[in-house]
Parts: sequence; C-alpha cells; structure tokens
Amino acid sequence: MTDAPGKAQMKYLIIYAHPNAKSFNHAIKETIEAALKASNAAVAVRDLYEIPFDPALKTAELEMVEGVPVPEDVKQEQEYIRSSDVLIFIYPIWWSDMPAILKGYVDRVFSYGFAWSMEQNVFNGLLHGKKAVIVNTLASGRDDLVNMGLLECMSKTIDAGIFDFCGIQVIEHKYLCGVLDATAEERTRMLKEVEEMMGRIIGKQA
Ligand SMILES: Cc1cc2nc3c(=O)[nH]c(=O)nc-3n(C[C@H](O)[C@H](O)[C@H](O)COP(=O)(O)O)c2cc1C
Repeated sequence: MTDAPGKAQMKYLIIYAHPNAKSFNHAIKETIEAALKASNAAVAVRDLYEIPFDPALKTAELEMVEGVPVPEDVKQEQEYIRSSDVLIFIYPIWWSDMPAILKGYVDRVFSYGFAWSMEQNVFNGLLHGKKAVIVNTLASGRDDLVNMGLLECMSKTIDAGIFDFCGIQVIEHKYLCGVLDATAEERTRMLKEVEEMMGRIIGKQA
C-alpha cells in the first residue's frame, strides 16, 4: 500500500518494559506490533530489558544545561522518539507505578533540553505534536482501583505529570485490570480489545 502524495507515513515507536517473554504484556506487545505491521505502518520496538537499558540517572545528567553532552545510550533513545509520531508504552503496573527500568528511561531520556525546558520560571514541553498510547496490566480489579482512587492517581501522575508536561498528547491510556485472575477467554477478549483500540488509532492517524 502506498501513501497518498504528500501524506507522510505515521511512525510508531513501541516502548516495552517486561522481563518475561511468556508474560501477558509480551502477548500485548505482539498484538500491537502485528496490528501495526498489518496496516503497513512504520514501527520500531525498544524492549528495555532486552537492550538492556540502564535506568540509573548519572550525576552529570542532572546538569540542566543545554549543550552538555548527552550519553550515547540516551541519545540513541531520544533519536527513536524524535523520529516517531506515536509512542506506545506497554508495561505492567508495579506498586501503582511503572517498572523501575521504565521510570529510569523517563528520568534519563525525557531530559531537560530534549523533552522540556524552563524559561523565566515557566516550564515548556518540547515534544508537542507527538502522541502517546499507554497499555497497562494490573492484578487488582477495576472496582477496587476506582474506589481507592488509584486509577485516577496513575492517570494524573503518568498522563499529566509526565506526558502532558512534555507536550505529548495521551490519546489512549488503557488499564487491563484483574489480569492474574483472568481466564484464557478473558485474556483473549482483552487482546481483542487491544487490537480494536489499535484499529481505531491507526484509522485516525492515517
Ligand atoms: C513488583 C510487583 C508489584 C506489583 N504491584 C501491583 C500494584 O500495585 N497493583 C496491581 O494491581 N498489581 C500489581 N502487581 C501485579 C502486576 O501488575 C501483574 O502481575 C501484571 O500486570 C501481570 O501481567 P504479566 O503477566 O504480563 O506480568 C505487581 C507485581 C509485581 C511483580
């Protein structure tokens, strides 16, 4: 399939954080990758455990000064983000947050001068025009998570605290709840839900 003249092909970047290739998250990653490939979209995958990405922010990286040399591993990840339109994050919720390897990726890759800046005490997001899709799995049931305010809390810290802050528009944040208790049929239905979500997203971006 070729694009209409003048219409740029959307570039998708999957950022995946799970250590186990037999996990449900891995099945989600495969589902999303397959949906993108089936639509002839350009897709790159960063499997943070496979790389393996070093999540520990270094002292030198704390210097919030533009022009300070960026470590090669961070530069490489920033290049992937720079050349992508839609970032798709896939990870399990651990302790009501992202796995440490992904948190460290955000600490290091979404750095000052690349993802955000500050001028006259005003923060500016530098990644405007990019979109994010987030898919999370959780052991807890949705009702418990809603009653405890945890889903709202996670959406605020992740969608607003990280992505909006950097100028990235979150177009979907899907929480797949109760996955540990889910039957094989329920898991198949969840993967179908993810596939349908990708169909909608690809359709809208095309
Ligand atoms: C270190 C750790 C912390 C976890 N914390 C939470 C949590 O805060 N809330 C929750 O609902 N599930 C929590 N879980 C359960 C995971 O979310 C669940 O195992 C995962 O989503 C299942 O997907 P997977 O099969 O792809 O690993 C935790 C699991 C681990 C290993």
